[in-house]
Amino acid sequence: MPSQTVPQKEATISYDGKSLVLPVIRGSEGETAVNIEKLRAQTGMVTIDPGYGNTGSCKSSVTFIDGDKGILRYRGYPIDQLAENASFLEVAWLLIHGELPTADQLRDFTTSVTRHTLLHENFSRFFEAFPKDAHPMPVCAASIAALTTFYQAPETDENRDESMVRLIAKMPTIAAYAYKHSIGQPFMYPQNKLDYASNFLRMMFGTPCEEYEVDPVLARTLDMLLILHADHEQNCSTSTVRMVGSSRANLYASVSAGISALWGPLHGGANQEVIEMLERIEAEEGSAEKFLFRAKDKNETARLMGFGHRVYKNYDPRAAILKKHCDVVLARVGVSNKLLEIAMKLEEIALKDDYFVSRKLYPNVDFYSGVIYKALGIPVNMFTVMFTMGRMPGWIAQWLEMRQDPDFRISRPRQIYTGHVQRDYKPIGERG
Ligand code: ACO
Repeated sequence: MPSQTVPQKEATISYDGKSLVLPVIRGSEGETAVNIEKLRAQTGMVTIDPGYGNTGSCKSSVTFIDGDKGILRYRGYPIDQLAENASFLEVAWLLIHGELPTADQLRDFTTSVTRHTLLHENFSRFFEAFPKDAHPMPVCAASIAALTTFYQAPETDENRDESMVRLIAKMPTIAAYAYKHSIGQPFMYPQNKLDYASNFLRMMFGTPCEEYEVDPVLARTLDMLLILHADHEQNCSTSTVRMVGSSRANLYASVSAGISALWGPLHGGANQEVIEMLERIEAEEGSAEKFLFRAKDKNETARLMGFGHRVYKNYDPRAAILKKHCDVVLARVGVSNKLLEIAMKLEEIALKDDYFVSRKLYPNVDFYSGVIYKALGIPVNMFTVMFTMGRMPGWIAQWLEMRQDPDFRISRPRQIYTGHVQRDYKPIGERG
């Protein structure tokens, strides 16, 4: 059992001649936080922290990150051990239930997920309503929200468990349908005999005309990628899921909001931006140095996409694992590794450049994931959808943890108002 967070010390805030003693809590890895819950009631003051960079929004036992040391652990297990040895569904169970599954639990969970992959037939008509060139991320967000309309049973423990399974099971089907719709091909029904990643690859690339043989090495690589994305504590999309869920919105609605948050180019959308950046460098500029020069120039909007992270200030451990797998995948599919070469060159130069070194900017998970997705044949606008598939168990685990927290309250931050003080309304003819 993780150790409980208990008050250990106190912090004193002094302001305007008065002082207030606040409790300090300590997490199981030694991180400390000043508990300011009573601050406003006792002083009338709030804290301000744009982007919440120093705000702990909750206590959580799901994922631990030490950004300075480049550590990522799910439920205490190091990410590299899980990525190399576990399956995605095993990790999904771990995140949601807190412990690795027994053989029986994993078998039952896998069977359950496999049996829920099918979408209601009305869903195919739902997809028809979207324009052909619709980006698959809003299609996925809308589809996940629409699941609520098919599963309206009140929230009980049993229904909640079923909703979790449904989300993990149906996400690959929804993702593949979104893609098939965009290229005008018929939807491929899921096949129960296939494992999670293979099933997705077949629904993406198979057609009713020809059986699609899934390459087990590529399926395993995809499974590993999903594990790397499975959770990342209180990031933008997870915080969104928690915030929406804090109003007691159901799991489907909360996760749908998380998908919308993940789509942004500064978050999950960065993997698409990385590959587009690498392709632009290859097509137009050819030179990594030239691009880096632009990325450092504050008068330019260009950033080195896939570099930098709010939390990791050493190296993103997921990027290290992915970089290792790039060669394997590229060799397996026999495609040119030009983009990988550009990525490695960019990394090499950036890590010697004072601009990136002094700001502690290192490759993040998105820097190399795009190269692998491209080698797997995943279209660029589906990259963030892959991230969504991977993140699903993390969102579910975090949502569940929030709802089961005895201290759970609706999320409702404060603000510092900087607008006009009171003024009187004037009829339109009297306005200057
Ligand atoms: N290229 C060039 N400069 C950068 C980059 C970059 N990729 N990232 C940060 N910087 C610079 C900023 O301009 C800023 O410089 P300044 O101090 O001179 O003003 C400094 O480094 C700090 O950057 P912030 O944007 O303040 O850092 P923050 O923690 O707010 O942002 C973020 C983190 C959004 C990830 C940022 O590094 C970024 O935009 N990276 C590129 C997009 C990306 O790869 N996103 C994926 C993140 S991982 C994920 O969501 C799965």
